[in-house]
Amino acid sequence: MTKVAIIGAGPCGLSTLRSFEQAEKKGEKIPEIVCFDKQEDWGGLWNYSWRTGSDQYGDPVPNSMYRYLWSNGPKECLEFADYSFDEHFGKPIPSFPPREVLYDYILGRVKKGNSKNKVKFSTTVTNVVYNGSNFEVTYRDKKKATSSTDIFDYIVVANGHFSVPFIPEYPGMKAFPGRIMHSHDFRDAEEFRDKNVVVLGSSYSAEDVALQCHKYGAKSVTIAYRHNPMGFKWPKGMKEVFHLDRLEGNKAIFKDGHIQETDAVILCTGYLHHFPFLSEDLKLKTGNRLYPPKLYKGVVWQNNHKLIYLGMQDQFHTFNMFDCQAWFARDVIMGKIKVPDSSEIEKDINKWVSMEKKLENADQMIDFQTEYTKELHTLSDYPKIDFELIRKTFKEWEHHKVENIMTYRNKSFSSPVTGSVGPKHHTDWETAMDDSLKTFLNQPKK
Ligand SMILES: Cc1cc2nc3c(=O)[nH]c(=O)nc-3n(C[C@H](O)[C@H](O)[C@H](O)COP(=O)(O)OP(=O)(O)OC[C@H]3O[C@@H](n4cnc5c(N)ncnc54)[C@H](O)[C@@H]3O)c2cc1C
Ligand SMILES: NC(=O)c1ccc[n+]([C@@H]2O[C@H](COP(=O)([O-])OP(=O)(O)OC[C@H]3O[C@@H](n4cnc5c(N)ncnc54)[C@H](OP(=O)(O)O)[C@@H]3O)[C@@H](O)[C@H]2O)c1
Repeated sequence: MTKVAIIGAGPCGLSTLRSFEQAEKKGEKIPEIVCFDKQEDWGGLWNYSWRTGSDQYGDPVPNSMYRYLWSNGPKECLEFADYSFDEHFGKPIPSFPPREVLYDYILGRVKKGNSKNKVKFSTTVTNVVYNGSNFEVTYRDKKKATSSTDIFDYIVVANGHFSVPFIPEYPGMKAFPGRIMHSHDFRDAEEFRDKNVVVLGSSYSAEDVALQCHKYGAKSVTIAYRHNPMGFKWPKGMKEVFHLDRLEGNKAIFKDGHIQETDAVILCTGYLHHFPFLSEDLKLKTGNRLYPPKLYKGVVWQNNHKLIYLGMQDQFHTFNMFDCQAWFARDVIMGKIKVPDSSEIEKDINKWVSMEKKLENADQMIDFQTEYTKELHTLSDYPKIDFELIRKTFKEWEHHKVENIMTYRNKSFSSPVTGSVGPKHHTDWETAMDDSLKTFLNQPKK
């Protein structure tokens, strides 16, 4: 029997488990599956942890999410085609839920099946090598402190790529009297109440961490971009300046001449694709981009078609794109989809990579990833979902952010699965301090 190892039980690993479960429900004979996760429970980044640094076993903590994190995109854009928000919550809910609500939704789908008994928790995959015909996978049971090696025919790498921080150094950091941290270790904006905060970066973490600090009472927030500013209309107390030059004592000195007294520097400088468990010949080497190289259909490793990577792209689309990837990967593994010859693969990868190079703005990037996801969708029996509505929703969302970065999370969108419209939330995001599921779902009766 074919044996498949899934490394990671975050959203991508769970999509893979779900895809096989759906095939089994249709009466198909599925491979033997073992999913490994080094955390004690499933959900990946959505499984919030207060921990930073190492866990109790000495393993680096993978979690990068923080208290008060709300979805930064409309939930309608990530909805599962086979498990709508309406089905999970029994009613339509607002379009921008906090973390705990999305976590509940992600788990709701897999809890209905029997996938959990396929997952080995608190188990870290430490080594994967290809011996010419199959993979030797070594894993460590953290609780028992034992190591084992098993043989697998296919590997699905679903370990995420937002867990290992990229941490640059700037002159003056060693002598800085305040706090320096990466967004990976950011857990609670309350810590920065009444403080002057400098945030480095110009992408989603910089935007959201800066907004969090402002929302929870930071005295000032100064965001320093390196190449392009985000350019939003920041509220009073926030500003965007050009690139940090150095720290001198407690002063941050920027390349555009700005000087800012600062208590804390938060490095929102992104993450590394990091696969310490894979032998060099199997390792994807890429930055955070929309079409990482050497992946056929963004999924199958060009040099070894039994190695599958999921969710390695920079992400506008998330959960339903992961599903489309998982359904495609499942059908490759089950022999229903034939991977073409190497020249065809090369041609297909080059087509996407050269299209990616020409992208100039967010709308084009949304179009690119929508086209990619739509193509994958046509290749499997993943259920019907309206990707044209998702494309439109993403673009409206981008424009709402430009209009007002403080209010875009108060907007409502239509479901690409059920068509229902998200109701307006009872409290505007800017004043909603409680991010619990209970408070969020407790919509006052009309
Ligand atoms: C701060 C932050 C906020 C985000 N907010 C949103 C959002 O609002 N909406 C959205 O759609 N997306 C968001 N994302 C994007 C996020 O990447 C995806 O939603 C999703 O979590 C990716 O799923 P994944 O399964 O690829 O990776 P992860 O969620 O990272 O899961 C990977 C799993 O692999 C396990 N693992 C890693 N290495 C090993 C190993 N060697 N052995 C065993 N197990 C291993 C980890 O323990 C983890 O459980 C956010 C990301 C970050 C960093
Ligand atoms: N739900 C939420 O609200 C939420 C919150 C946070 C994050 N997220 C998600 O988390 C994921 C990761 O986002 P991310 O912003 O952490 O990573 P990212 O999108 O990869 O962006 C990395 C940023 O780091 C900057 N950078 C890199 N090296 C630098 C240096 N030496 N000095 C200054 N800046 C540097 C880059 O700037 P250049 O452009 O100049 O290279 C870029 O702006 C995304 O999927 C995002 O959606 C979601």
